[in-house]
Amino acid sequence: MDNWIIIAIAAVVAVLIVILLLLIRMYRRRNLKITRFLMAILEKRDRNMDGHSTHTQLLIDEFYDYLPPEKKLHLGREHLRYAALLHDIGKLGIPEEILDKPGKLTDEEWKIMRRHPEIAVELLTPVGLFDPVLDWILYHHERMDGTGYFRLKGEEIPLASKMLAIVDTFSAVTVGKSYRPARPYEDGIATLRLVAGTQLDPDLVEIFSAIPKHRIENCRTELAKEMTHLTKKI
Ligand SMILES: [Fe+2]
Ligand SMILES: [Fe+2]
Repeated sequence: MDNWIIIAIAAVVAVLIVILLLLIRMYRRRNLKITRFLMAILEKRDRNMDGHSTHTQLLIDEFYDYLPPEKKLHLGREHLRYAALLHDIGKLGIPEEILDKPGKLTDEEWKIMRRHPEIAVELLTPVGLFDPVLDWILYHHERMDGTGYFRLKGEEIPLASKMLAIVDTFSAVTVGKSYRPARPYEDGIATLRLVAGTQLDPDLVEIFSAIPKHRIENCRTELAKEMTHLTKKI
């Protein structure tokens, strides 16, 4: 076969591959946007959740970039994004009077609240698309010292669940609530370091803390833009 024919075929194949990759990317971005939108609707039930799912997803994306390659081997970015976006979807099964209660929860109410990871798994299992992330979501409230919801300890906790716990805590501290204003980046990092070892994985806390501040703060800026846009639609 002439060289020019081989070159022409190679060029056509290359163009097709690029088009295919662009289509996959477009499709993924669209799915992610739909999931963010649905989670924003769910978060309307809980005034302290506003934007929490999207914020944790943006943070975990940054976190993934800074993981050492050997840790990335056990994770996929796309799966992590969905685990972050959906980790609190089980709150759909928690009564609003518990979600929105201004004071402390009673023991009985805590028992109900602590069911949200299980409810998430019950909701997502029939969909059949989220199997790889079900355990990650189920264990996002585990603690290194074994005092979390299911009493898993240290290395028994999936890596992704430990990452979720870090971004979850950081988001909870730094995003404003109905009962207190937003707190700065430094307070978020200080809180993570305070509970590293007992609640959170200390190595992962250090990796997260080493992400440049402007990249973490960008997540909040992006979140604010997204929430303004979404609030207009809901
Ligand atoms: Fe949660
Ligand atoms: Fe959460």
